[in-house]
Amino acid sequence: MRERIVAGNWKMNTTPQEGVKLACAVAEAIASTNWQTRASASSAESRRQTPSSADNVTVVICPPATHLAIIGEAVKSSSVELGAQNVHWADKGAYTSELSSAMLEAVGCKWVIIGHSERRSMFGETDETVNMRLRHIVKTDIRPIVCIGETLDKRQSEQTFAVLEQQLKVGLDGVELVGREGVVIAYEPVWAIGTGLNATPEQAQEAHRFIRGLLSKMYGKDIADNNVIQYGGSMNEKNANELMACQDVDGGLIGGASLRVDKFLPIIKAAYSQ
Ligand code: 13P
Repeated sequence: MRERIVAGNWKMNTTPQEGVKLACAVAEAIASTNWQTRASASSAESRRQTPSSADNVTVVICPPATHLAIIGEAVKSSSVELGAQNVHWADKGAYTSELSSAMLEAVGCKWVIIGHSERRSMFGETDETVNMRLRHIVKTDIRPIVCIGETLDKRQSEQTFAVLEQQLKVGLDGVELVGREGVVIAYEPVWAIGTGLNATPEQAQEAHRFIRGLLSKMYGKDIADNNVIQYGGSMNEKNANELMACQDVDGGLIGGASLRVDKFLPIIKAAYSQ
């Protein structure tokens, strides 16, 4: 069965102190359940092994960059894995304000979000720069979560599939490592992000099935069948179950609801319940 990955994208929220408190609260809340986690099984080798159902959920938190080191330390012996919200494609150099994969690895990051729609709409991210980041990160031990999704405009003019195809084809161009040990795709319809208006399970499933079909054409059915495709966009404690019950939805990328333990935990529970 496919992995399910629930990742919290904290965006530009919390101070470092608040972040440590939140991260520890998430880790403690999970530890106090009887759910099993894949805590020590995040190597590519262990991901290739056939998992059982209960140990097949990974929980990731992606705090702001200023918090990564301190939160990495705080959660290092827990089942919660650490992720960053962006990474540069160069190893090092004169790139003011950017972060390299080596810096992220040094503070314990196992994940990184690439190509979030907020980066695309506000900070000039393009499918080409997504591809550059991705080509770099697949050579490291950090696993990417690549965000794709259409705007309301594009959905209303029936261009959703065309947008997804373009983002996926250009974004993944030349990237070999997909499937169980590689690139996670997050389908995040832009109109659903932070609006409280999530995609319906039917809309999500339709897009996810389309994405899996494209991956199948690009990489073959076996790889596509094993590739995690998360849903993101106003996922919350009320809709997580029905969204994750969709055949091709393998977890979630959560914004607002990941900032509160009482909202994030039921979403994690939904991933365990599938
Ligand atoms: P919300 O869950 O706040 O809609 O944000 C989703 C998102 O952008 C996650 O990356």
